[in-house]
Amino acid sequence: MHKTKIIGTGMAVPDCVVDNHLLARCFTTSDEWITQRTGIKERRVVPSTYRFLLRLAEAKDKAACIREVYERGLDGNIDAEVTPADLGREAAEMALENAGLRIDDIDFIVVTTTVPEYAYPHTGAVISAKFGLSSTPVLNLQQGCSGFVYALSVADAFIRIGTYRRVLVVGAETLSTMLEYSDRGRDMAVLFADGAGAVVLQSVDASSPSGFISHHLHQDGTILDKLYAEIYGASTYPIVSKKKIDDGRAKPYMHGRTIFSHAVRRFKEVLREALEANALTADDIDFFLFHQANQRILDAIAEYAKIPEEKLFNNVHKYGNTSAASVPICIHEAVSAGRIREGDLVLTAAFGAGFAWGASLLRW
Ligand code: ACO
Repeated sequence: MHKTKIIGTGMAVPDCVVDNHLLARCFTTSDEWITQRTGIKERRVVPSTYRFLLRLAEAKDKAACIREVYERGLDGNIDAEVTPADLGREAAEMALENAGLRIDDIDFIVVTTTVPEYAYPHTGAVISAKFGLSSTPVLNLQQGCSGFVYALSVADAFIRIGTYRRVLVVGAETLSTMLEYSDRGRDMAVLFADGAGAVVLQSVDASSPSGFISHHLHQDGTILDKLYAEIYGASTYPIVSKKKIDDGRAKPYMHGRTIFSHAVRRFKEVLREALEANALTADDIDFFLFHQANQRILDAIAEYAKIPEEKLFNNVHKYGNTSAASVPICIHEAVSAGRIREGDLVLTAAFGAGFAWGASLLRW
């Protein structure tokens, strides 16, 4: 048996910054409401979303402005300038460079994306095409915000049993493109944003002190209807229709309060599970990297597990919720800032649509 170690990290976020004040000019909300409820001050979005928001902010008739874009695209154009695969590739290149490797050194790729560019093939295939790969296997998980923890566990399993030696794991999202920037869509429009993160995993000897220790995955299908998006899905016939848009079924749906309470409950449970499985207490953990969904959820967990500020990473204020990209962006920023050091015991956890959640414990 082998063990799996992270040997390189990377991230990519678009340059366009949307602060709460810009959103407050597009629909009924305020910097105060968003900051108090979520801790988010600004987020990054792809250029198309940014141009649309600038236009919407200026528009006297907001409904007409939104309608025009749904009917004609932005200035008659419906091509996305930047897709999840573009950000994913950029993050992957950085992770490879930091690992001192090239894409040809990678045996297997696992990508996780919530809203891909195509219904098929998946974003992993598009990243593979952008790298010009012609035979490397690529797996794509559509696992919402818990995607990166699930992806790490899959990649680790392949390395442990010796199938692959080096695996690239990528989380990439452009969720701003699915949001409805209106009063009807404001609950989600203030939360989600764009970005990508990546890590390179390598097989090390089982006796190595560093590497993944355990993964703990769960899913509760009974609350699937509290967080979902039909968009181009086959839940409607036909898949795309004007009626779908008019009925509000081409936009995502979230019951915020239910998701909030389940997130806190499941985070606590999975934290306890990971610690108990390894006969550890929260004090033994050197660093916590949690999915950045909402500052209030992070605060509730920190209070529950008595996690001191210096042990908990936090960047939700500047990126919002980047879904499957959130955990790898945190890993990259924490490592780059020197907040995780060799030998540290690190616990990462995430939750999201499904309702799915999970945690991974590793020694850095
Ligand atoms: N600006 C101003 N008012 C708003 C906004 C907004 N952006 N969004 C909703 N409101 C209004 C609502 O319409 C409601 O008004 P009403 O009382 O007149 O009906 C009022 O604010 C309160 O709404 P609630 O939904 O009860 O507000 P809450 O305090 O629960 O905060 C929030 C909403 C921030 C969405 C919260 O429920 C939350 O964070 N939930 C978890 C969401 C989350 O983490 N989702 C992502 C996780 S899953 C994943 O990562 C894929």
